[in-house]
Amino acid sequence: MKSFMIQGAKILATGSAIPSSSTTNHDISTIVQTSDEWIFTRTGIKERRLLKGVDQSIIDLAVSASKKALDKIAMHPSQLDLVILATSSPDDLFGSASKIQSKIGASNAVAFDLTAACSGFVLSLVTASQFLYTGAYRNILVVGADTLSKWIDWSDRSTCILFGDAAAAVILQSCSIVDNSVLTFQLNSDGNYANHLSIAYETDIIPHPKLNLHQGYFKYISMNGKEVYKFAVFQVPLSILKCLNSLNMSIEEVDWLLLHQANERILNAIAEKLSISSKKIISNLCKYGNTSAASIPLALDEAIKQNKILSNDIIVIAGFGAGLTWGTVVLRW
Ligand code: ACO
Repeated sequence: MKSFMIQGAKILATGSAIPSSSTTNHDISTIVQTSDEWIFTRTGIKERRLLKGVDQSIIDLAVSASKKALDKIAMHPSQLDLVILATSSPDDLFGSASKIQSKIGASNAVAFDLTAACSGFVLSLVTASQFLYTGAYRNILVVGADTLSKWIDWSDRSTCILFGDAAAAVILQSCSIVDNSVLTFQLNSDGNYANHLSIAYETDIIPHPKLNLHQGYFKYISMNGKEVYKFAVFQVPLSILKCLNSLNMSIEEVDWLLLHQANERILNAIAEKLSISSKKIISNLCKYGNTSAASIPLALDEAIKQNKILSNDIIVIAGFGAGLTWGTVVLRW
């Protein structure tokens, strides 16, 4: 990785938003054959938030999270230069970021979606940093938001137990190089295993009668849970170690391990492989399940609210998921 930095990047504020109603493991056990005990022991999840009702969308969650982050630092939205929405469940295939840009009043910002499933926030953070390092932009809003409840087959017990809906935002700003807090990153993709986790597009067999054109529709989430589990536990520690090595930093110097909140067993297995104390793992998935692109900023926002993270703490953030994609960012808070 080569970076051409004329400036640094730092996170100024975070904010998050979740649907109001909670759905417990017990609630799910009334629609598919499962139990609180099975779900909790295999995943660590107890409950999740699902976006219900016809009048609420991913945009509402993303706007609410963004406004909370802006309010924390009293930043006027017109100061934002760029809005990146990390999502795999936009309300419009052409992208939803510009709706957030307009609803929060970021009148001077360009906005785009970034699709990388559960790695979306890490990729967006890295993308935003590049715009800041080069001096192209000064203030950037990154929102991780997903409402995968809309894309779940609620009769498939192997997937419907896992996911929740949420949005969370961070505001990044350029700063002098000595104050840079986005220390390094490492990103990967391997499309050979894309089928392990996908929301595939299925083409109709019968073509349009006159054009011979096949249209189709997107199916529900399909997942090979065991393969995703093995992939995460094998690849994520390697990515983290590459980052730490590039900084000449030891595992002992890491204060917090903030992984994509997919499964408690994955978090523990990765921490164990790295010999990082379980006390350093940030985890809130028992309350929210896997919220995909929102999971890392949601956990970050919560950890900040709980005053866990102190100035100068080293936070290792790693995302992994569909694509397959995975990657790490190291922050100095
Ligand atoms: N309740 C009860 N039984 C179940 C359930 C359920 N919800 N789901 C599956 N089972 C059964 C299976 O049918 C199977 O029964 P069998 O032995 O009679 O065939 C048995 O439980 C074991 O099933 P496995 O799939 O082998 O269970 P496993 O221990 O692998 O746990 C899980 C499944 C939790 C999905 C695990 O594989 C996992 O967490 N994988 C990672 C998934 C993940 O993190 N995905 C998202 C990451 S990327 C992203 O976020 C987009």
